[in-house]
Amino acid sequence: MKKLALIGCGGIGGYHLEHFLDYRDVELAGFCDLIPERAERFAARAGGRAFTDYREMYEAIKPDMVFICIPPTAHGTIELETIRRGIPFFVEKPVALNLDLARRIRDAAAQAGLITASGFQCRYSNLVPPTLDFIKGHEIVYINCARIGGIPGVDWWKKRSTSGGQIVEQTIHQFDLIRYVYGEPDTVFTLGARGFNTGDPEYDTEDVSVTVVKFQSGALATLSTGCYASEGAACDSKITFSARDSRLDHYIIDRVGIYGLQENADAGVNSLVVKGDGTFSANAREGLQIKDDGQAGIACDRTFVDAVLSGDGSKIRSPYADAFRSLAFTMACNQSMDTRMPVKVELE
Ligand SMILES: NC(=O)c1ccc[n+]([C@@H]2O[C@H](COP(=O)([O-])OP(=O)(O)OC[C@H]3O[C@@H](n4cnc5c(N)ncnc54)[C@H](O)[C@@H]3O)[C@@H](O)[C@H]2O)c1
Repeated sequence: MKKLALIGCGGIGGYHLEHFLDYRDVELAGFCDLIPERAERFAARAGGRAFTDYREMYEAIKPDMVFICIPPTAHGTIELETIRRGIPFFVEKPVALNLDLARRIRDAAAQAGLITASGFQCRYSNLVPPTLDFIKGHEIVYINCARIGGIPGVDWWKKRSTSGGQIVEQTIHQFDLIRYVYGEPDTVFTLGARGFNTGDPEYDTEDVSVTVVKFQSGALATLSTGCYASEGAACDSKITFSARDSRLDHYIIDRVGIYGLQENADAGVNSLVVKGDGTFSANAREGLQIKDDGQAGIACDRTFVDAVLSGDGSKIRSPYADAFRSLAFTMACNQSMDTRMPVKVELE
């Protein structure tokens, strides 16, 4: 049986572990964290061995695949050593905080011909095909996205030097999904503001930012993101794809609403047929509503594992080289905030 290992037994590592526990065709062989109790806790649940040094783990168990779930500043030697040993890897987003480093990892993985994947699970949602369908059938003129919430609980988050800031660490999911369903950015211009979050002297990142994007297609987008709002005040994370005759609201991992097409709802919309199974419903006032089925994260992990088992990586929706581009998109926003100038996105 092929062996799976995981490095970084923190919050997102636990999310992946929950998925792994259902696997019957893969051995959950090793778990590694700098904090021994964390690795031991994972190993106790999954049945593998615990390590504090990933090199020792690689030597001891010789994994066939690894999930790398470490904080944004910890990337680099782990991936390069993983590539040197020829181990296919899944790495959490953001894949680094330094584009030159990410480029080196991308190129080394490509040269080694390794299967790679990254943690953009939103790409695997059942909401993606109808969104792709809508975008294929309508000329999108404008995209609007807002994600307003609070400060995540991990220590490294509150400093821009260790998290990348909210756009790079968090709202990268929205930037990435827009790239996946719509297309590539050309230029960004971002303004950020600080001073609204007070009380924690260690906190030093933007409280709110607004980005204007010009896409290669010529369309425009605005993406706003903020981490100043308490739970009740948070705004949901919505991406609106706006066309001349209709619009689609994509709420990541929640639901999609399509408006302006009611007259077509019974007949099907751009090959999107309203099914009788409760998944899709249409009503003149509410438009066509589609619920997320909650399977995106499971599908994301399993797609990587299946790719390693079969040797065919073609179903992976976010290989490392593509995740690099989403990193470049968001890093361009940081550069623009710092220079107060528009920045061309370096996709290569
Ligand atoms: N895909 C998603 O939706 C999603 C959600 C949350 C977090 N993330 C990403 O996952 C990454 C980790 O986030 P988290 O919330 O799990 O952080 P965390 O701090 O909870 O966990 C990270 C773990 O990595 C360990 N670690 C650090 N360096 C290590 C090393 N060299 N060797 C072994 N272990 C090491 C730490 O001790 C810690 O236990 C971040 O990049 C974050 O952006 C992705």
